[in-house]
Order: sequence, then structure tokens, then C-alpha cells
Amino acid sequence: GGDGIMKIFIDSADIDEIKQAYEWGIADGVTTNPSLLKKAVTKHKKKNKNLNLKNYINQILKIAKGSPVSLEVTETSKTGMLKQAKNIHKLFKSHKNVYIKIPINPAFKESDTTHFDGITVIKQLTKLKIKTNCTLIFTPEQALLAAKAGASFVSPFAGRIDDFIRVSNKLKVDKTAHYPVWGMQKKDKTLHDNGIVSGIDLVEQCVTILKHYNFKTQVLAASLRNTRQVRESAMVGSDIATLPFTVIKEMLKHQKTYEGMKNFTKDIVPEYVKLTK
Ligand code: G3P
Repeated sequence: GGDGIMKIFIDSADIDEIKQAYEWGIADGVTTNPSLLKKAVTKHKKKNKNLNLKNYINQILKIAKGSPVSLEVTETSKTGMLKQAKNIHKLFKSHKNVYIKIPINPAFKESDTTHFDGITVIKQLTKLKIKTNCTLIFTPEQALLAAKAGASFVSPFAGRIDDFIRVSNKLKVDKTAHYPVWGMQKKDKTLHDNGIVSGIDLVEQCVTILKHYNFKTQVLAASLRNTRQVRESAMVGSDIATLPFTVIKEMLKHQKTYEGMKNFTKDIVPEYVKLTK
């Protein structure tokens, strides 16, 4: 588990977004993945065709000032992932804040024979004192094995489980719509994926299991699409929640807060301002 307060990471590889989140003073870390990196690199290459990726990542690591930054492997074989993880570690070692993201199961289909390679690699990296973030977690038992292998973080993908439960039950998928923590009902039955009724339920089960055995591994709630899921991640005691920039931006907004600001401003007593300004 973590150190008692839910940390907020920014789920982005876009340096502008990362910089802003750190300037606001709310970011405790960064998570990236191949899709987020592609999006960021595409955006920044439009401005600068010769974008140097090593410099770009170094800048992100500098902005994060020692707070955890996850960089994912793209290789899928045991030796490939291990070599790439060591290379990433070596390349950015001086910042002391890189966590290597390893998929829980690097197989593409059930008949592949590589299902346990992620675990094996996490175990070897743990021995080398290289920190890992185990990604693409969709079951608590995946989280349990990753924690046992020594992963620093396990990343359950909350939003994608909600998508999956909806798709499996032929319900319309609206990625940003709230999905109830206690699950959706259809014909008086709660929909679930092997006992998981929602993304936040998955996060909670991971938290419960890891707390139960005092694992040092922290639960990092990922694939969160709205502010309510951030609140719910905190309600179930997730150590970390990683948020897209758009979700971070929504977190402080409320109609009544704007209204309150306007009304308080109308009521200002000038002498009070004079005395205190
Ligand atoms: O943190 C994982 C995240 O980047 C995936 O999010 O919304 O594509 O499921 P999403």
C-alpha cells in the first residue's frame, strides 16, 4: 500500500499537459502508454519535425522532479521486454523516477504460450531493483500475481472494464457516462465480468487483497474517464488515481462555486479590503 493519501498522477505523455498539472501543484506522478505517447509525439511533431524523443522524455522527467513517471515497454517477448526495460532504465537513470510499465500478460490470444512472461520479467526487474508498474490489469488475481512478483504499482483499467461489461451485454457504450460502482442491472440481474461488477469494483477488490497481505505494491486506478470515478477511487482507498488532463480540469468545477464567488464579490465591504490588502 501507499503512504496514506491518494496520489494523483496525470495520464498523459503531452509535455504541455504535464507541465500545467505540475504548475497547478496537483500532480504526484505521470503515466504514459504507447497510445498516449503516439498522440503526444504526433502533436509535437507538427510543431517541430525534428523532435528529439530522448530530450522530450528527459524534459518530462525533469518536470516530474523525482515523482514517478511510467514508461512502457513495447516488446512482448521475455528477453525483449527485459532488454528494453533495462535500456529504458539506463537511458533515464539519472532522474531516479522511472517506473517500467510491463503488461500483466503480453499474449495476444489464448493459444499464445507467453502468458506468464510479464510476471517473469517483473520478478527479474525487481531483483535488479528496477521499479515496475504492471499494466493492463482486468482481474484482482492478475493484481495479486503482479504484487507477488514485486511490482511497485498495479494498474487496474476501470473504464475499460465498464466498456467490456456493457459491450458483452449489448448495451450502448458511452465512454464518459458514469457507470454505477455497484453495477448495472438488466432483467433484475447485476451485470458482471467474472464477479467484477464495475471498474471501481475491480479497483476495490485489488485494494482489499493487497491490503490484506500488507503488500508494498500500490494500486493505481487507471482508465478513469470522469471526476466521479476519481472520487470513487478515493472512496475505495486506491493508493493512486491516474487522470487524463480533461478529467483533472473538471475536478474543481461546480455551478454553485461560481455563483458563490459572484455573490461574495458583490458583498465586499471596502474598508475590509483596505485593511487587509
Ligand atoms: O491509464 C490507462 C489509460 O491510459 C487507458 O485509458 O480511457 O483509453 O481506457 P482508456
